[in-house]
Order: sequence, then C-alpha cells, then structure tokens
Amino acid sequence: MAELEIVDRENGVLPPPRDPESAFGTKEPARLAPRSITRDLDPPGAEALGLSPEEIVQFREQGYVIKRGLIDPALFQPFLDLWWQQPPVRAAALDPDDRSTWRAPGRFWPAENRWGTPDNWMGRSPWPSVDVERAGAELGERVGRLPHKLTKDVSNDVWRWHGIGHDPAFVDATSAHPNVLYMAELLLGGPIKRPRRNRGIYSIFPRDLDGPASALGPHMDQSMTEMQVVTYLSEIGPQEGGFTIYPTSPQRLYHHSTQAYNWVAGEGAEEAMNAIKREVEPIEFCGRPGDVIFCHGWVVHSAGVHEGERVRLACIQDFNRSRERGHMRWTAAGKNGGGRVHATMDGFFRIPTDTDDDPADGLREVTNQWIMDSNEFVTSRRAPFNDMFAEWNLGAREPRGNVVDEVPWWERYGLPMLPSLNAPRGGGGVPAVSLDSVADYEGDGVWRIRIPR
Ligand SMILES: [Fe+2]
Repeated sequence: MAELEIVDRENGVLPPPRDPESAFGTKEPARLAPRSITRDLDPPGAEALGLSPEEIVQFREQGYVIKRGLIDPALFQPFLDLWWQQPPVRAAALDPDDRSTWRAPGRFWPAENRWGTPDNWMGRSPWPSVDVERAGAELGERVGRLPHKLTKDVSNDVWRWHGIGHDPAFVDATSAHPNVLYMAELLLGGPIKRPRRNRGIYSIFPRDLDGPASALGPHMDQSMTEMQVVTYLSEIGPQEGGFTIYPTSPQRLYHHSTQAYNWVAGEGAEEAMNAIKREVEPIEFCGRPGDVIFCHGWVVHSAGVHEGERVRLACIQDFNRSRERGHMRWTAAGKNGGGRVHATMDGFFRIPTDTDDDPADGLREVTNQWIMDSNEFVTSRRAPFNDMFAEWNLGAREPRGNVVDEVPWWERYGLPMLPSLNAPRGGGGVPAVSLDSVADYEGDGVWRIRIPR
C-alpha cells in the first residue's frame, strides 16, 4: 500500500506512522562474532563510581561504558526468590539444585499464556486468547505484551518478565538505585527523569543441544530512549548470553535520523545499519550480578549468543532526560478486514475510509508498548545536533541529584499498570482500552489523540 504523505504546517512532512513494537533493522545478516568483554579488558575506573578520562573517551567514541559492582547484589535476592515462584519456572519444574532442568524449558510453556493478567481487558474482560471473539478487534488479533512474554528465539528460549519491571521495590533496586541515578546524571546530564518502570528481567535459558546454534539478531529499538542500560542479576561468562552491542553504532546512526529525540530513519539510515553489521566487531558484556552497562539509546544491540549451561538474568532499562512530551505511541486494532492503524507523530489516528471498517467506530482496542518508561513522543522535533553529545554531561559536572520524579504516563492517562484484582506481584501491565477513551473523532477517519495535563 502506498504510504500517505502527511504534511504538517509546523513540522513539514511527517514520517509514516510506525508500530510501537517495531525495531529498526535490516535483512543483512550479522557477520562478525562478538568479542567478550570481561573485567580485565575494562578501561581504568570501571570499579569506581564516576567516569575516568578513558571511560569518557570510550563513551564519546564507542557509545558505552561498563561499571562493575555498581549495585550490591544482595539487593537482588528478594527478586531472585520471586523468580523461582513464577509460572514460567514452575511450569517447567526448574530445580535450583539441578542444572539439567534449566535447559530449553520452552517445551513446557503453553503456546499462549495470560499468567499474571488482571481481568481488565477493555475495562472488564480477561486478556483474550486467539480463539476468543471480542468487540474491539478481529478474532486472533494480537494482545501485545504480557507480564510474562515467552519466546523461542533463534535457538534459546527467552522469558521477558515485564511484570516485575513496574514493581516499585524492583525499580528501587535497579533503575532508581542511587549509584545508577548518579551515573545517569553524570553521563546524560540532568534533569534525569526518575525511572518509574523498566522492561523487567530478561532470562535466556541454555539451548536445546539438538537445536540450531545460538546467533545474533542485531537491531536498534527506535524508541524514545536516550540511554539504554543493562544490569546483570546473574553471573555471565563468555558465550553465556551476555548483552551484545555494536560499539560506534550510535555514532554511525545518529546523523541519519531526521530528529534529535525521536528516531526517524532518514536517508542513508539502512545503509549505515548494513555497514555496522558488516564492519563492526560486536562485543558481549560479561560480568557479575550488580555490573551495569550504560549505552547511548540508539546503540545497535542483540540478545547474546548463549551456548552455556546457566540462565542469563539481566534487567533491561531505558533512561531519559525529563522533557516535554506529547501524545502516546498508541496502535489501534483494525476490524472487519481493516488493518491496524498506528498513531502518527502529529497526534492522530487516520483510519482509511475506503474499507468495510467503519472509521467512526470507537469501540476498537488501542494498546501501547507498556514495557517502556517513556512512551510518549518528545514534543521537540529539532534536528540532530552537530555534536551528538552536545546536551550530554559526559563527566563534565558533578551530579547534584537533578532527578525529576514525573508522574508516569500510565497515571497521567489513568491506565492500570500495577497488578490489581486477581493479578499477583510480578503480574499486571496495561491492557487494551477503547479508542474513544483516548481520542476524539473529528470525521473523515481522523481521531485526535487526547493529551492529559
Ligand atoms: Fe532491543
């Protein structure tokens, strides 16, 4: 289908609306195997709070820094205890004392799961399965993220425990830990938006030895994240699923966006991505519980190659400056054969008027990528800076606790996030709501998204 070119008076041509779940990637395969970065390969200063001159240069030129022992791993114990109680672990009868049970647990997972979801889909129903008829979407339409997202990736089974990512105690022990906030302000510069959620714990399990070998899947998240941060909750050696990045990739991609704060792929972006995959040797972050890697938000990354015998536990996080933000990155389900429609960057849904899907029908499911801490487009549409770190601090000034505790987006929009009703701790998440509860119909298929104040 030809993409409609939408011209906005203030901002010029708008980018085509994008699925909030989509990453920026190309078909070019990853060419080079990752090099393992263990503690002995860090620049000086890795074990100290702060940034050494060598670390500042590394961040500026390569886009990342690893801080060792930034968080006392004892703080993670309550969440590790909780991990062993969760449905994906119990369904596969994993035994902490028997490593053989940790391998490829996906064969015990249900094809679909609604573990940990309250009965609040569209305000009142259970989160739907593929065979449930529903008023707001076609039969089998996706439900988006679940508190426990289970996938079988190229070779390893992965459990993304998003439901723990909004647990206030978990956020305090990870993203909002004082040492992490200190490093965020030292790198990004204030005012830092205090994280109110992160993406949760991503567990990568040892692979089925009869299956294909582990492989990389490099991509860039193209969310509003300014700094991507990964904290380890387990010990991860070489080839054990360590978070893998392409050093220099943010530097190579940055000037191919047409905007500084919202990634909008412009001319040359795909070729830059292909060149990264051809030319850059990726690195895998090896470390211990409490070690943390900080990267520029537009870093090309991948789940790590995992050929080992242990479960990889990492917390994936997004950091931003406190900034003026507009409407949410919503996506609306199609009905009666009409396709899914995503929010445009100028704040509308534009539903085609030439299908059997009644564009005025406001009883349609809208969802968003609720695992993110910042889910709204940044209001500013300014072009990238000449110096991509123009606004960053990169160790220049001592942090002074310039952290803003904003009202999180789900509270601003009056959406449920925390576990409620029948959902246990570690569950929850934002269900679909109806289009007419978040936007107003203006006719001709156009819905204007409300921005709460
Ligand atoms: Fe990603």
